[in-house]
Amino acid sequence: MNADLNLLLEELERFGAENDDGIGHGDPARAQRMLNITRDTGEFLAVLVRATRARDILEIGTSNGYSTLWLADALGAEDGKVTTVELLDAKYAMAQENFARAGLRERIDAFNADAGEVLRVAGDAAYDLVFLDSDRTQYEGWWPQIRRVLRPRGLLVVDNAVSHAEEMESFMQAVRDDGFACSLVPVGKGEFLATRA
Ligand SMILES: C[S@@+](CC[C@H](N)C(=O)[O-])C[C@H]1O[C@@H](n2cnc3c(N)ncnc32)[C@H](O)[C@@H]1O
Repeated sequence: MNADLNLLLEELERFGAENDDGIGHGDPARAQRMLNITRDTGEFLAVLVRATRARDILEIGTSNGYSTLWLADALGAEDGKVTTVELLDAKYAMAQENFARAGLRERIDAFNADAGEVLRVAGDAAYDLVFLDSDRTQYEGWWPQIRRVLRPRGLLVVDNAVSHAEEMESFMQAVRDDGFACSLVPVGKGEFLATRA
């Protein structure tokens, strides 16, 4: 990673911590929190992207683009793309600014939309890697579409699998029941990994 991108990521880490600390946990304030992945999760995602040679990545839950920058940087200068989806206008706008500052806009297709809609119109087996970091109440409903858009041997990574294990249990069980090979990795807030046969 180049030094300028590292500086931007550090700036976003400070911003996220200060912003989120200053906001209570109740709705609607929750919508204003950045809820970024941790730095070690970013490093972990970068290793996964490189090791799997992922070229087409779908991220559900952009926020202000912190995790997207890790994914896009890990693609390297080749022809890969991160497609990322954010429902809220203000966060989408912040992300667009951060992608431009990082010089990574070319590698990112950002959608200001409901992830369910983007999943619905995505092609079969369109993605090598899907990173899910969004509204956990929707995961089970989205699962048939996520399964459809993942390529054979494609990788699903889901954040908050340890921090919100109870909320995620039924979803994780549905993935296991579909015959995916799964692993829970204690990095950051806990990453649930699943790969299709
Ligand atoms: C945990 S944050 C994402 C953090 C981001 N991945 C990062 O690490 O920088 C979850 C985001 O998902 C967005 N979101 C919630 N429901 C959504 C939906 N149905 N479609 C798209 N985005 C959604 C929220 O607005 C929020 O910004």
